Amino acid sequence: MSEINSLENILVNIPLFSNLKEIDDISKLTHIKTYVKNTTVINEGDISDSLYIIISGRAKVFISDEQGKELMLKSLGKGDYFGEMSLLDESPRSASITTLEDSLLATISKSNFIQCMLKHPDIAISLSTELCKRLRLTTENLKDIALTDGYSRIAKTLLQMAEVQNDKKIIARKLTHQNIANMAGTSREMVTRILNDLTQGGYLSIEDKKIIIHKSLPGGW
Ligand code: CMP
Repeated sequence: MSEINSLENILVNIPLFSNLKEIDDISKLTHIKTYVKNTTVINEGDISDSLYIIISGRAKVFISDEQGKELMLKSLGKGDYFGEMSLLDESPRSASITTLEDSLLATISKSNFIQCMLKHPDIAISLSTELCKRLRLTTENLKDIALTDGYSRIAKTLLQMAEVQNDKKIIARKLTHQNIANMAGTSREMVTRILNDLTQGGYLSIEDKKIIIHKSLPGGW
């Protein structure tokens, strides 16, 4: 009983369910599981149809080719959800999802989720709004990849990840050059070259694998 109550406290703070008055309808149908860092929860192309909600931790959405080359589509954190597409359109999983840190995920089956959506149409509205946001972001990323050069994409990725700490822009997450390349849709070699050039130019420094941006990055390279 107390487990269900604490699950309700968690779910009520998840944006997908924020307008829901009867949160116990959802909590009774949800299972919670811990996934350690670097666990692939969903494989692109799989046939499955559960919805996952991130209670704590972080995960990445990505697509990859046969050589293992990856393009990261989105980073997800607490309160985000994934797996809604196969649940709605009954097609194979459109992308893969891997945890970036130890994560607690809630799962709800397709039949239970559809049942909840029919009872609480607010969930369907919230889901549609999120799908629009994701489509807009994907369109923007597509535009960057098709119409922008590699340097600009790397600079944009760095600035998007940076947080201001003591008047400096710092990327607190320790990233490999390959991680940055996967996010920017470019090659590891190019990331290495650009980071070296920016470091030599005094634009950034790398301390303990954390990138510190010291001044506005150049508009082009
Ligand atoms: P599904 O296709 O069931 O499984 C993979 C999940 O990745 C998908 O549902 C979405 O939740 C998520 N996903 C796929 N493409 C994108 C995208 N372009 N932006 C954000 N999330 C995505």
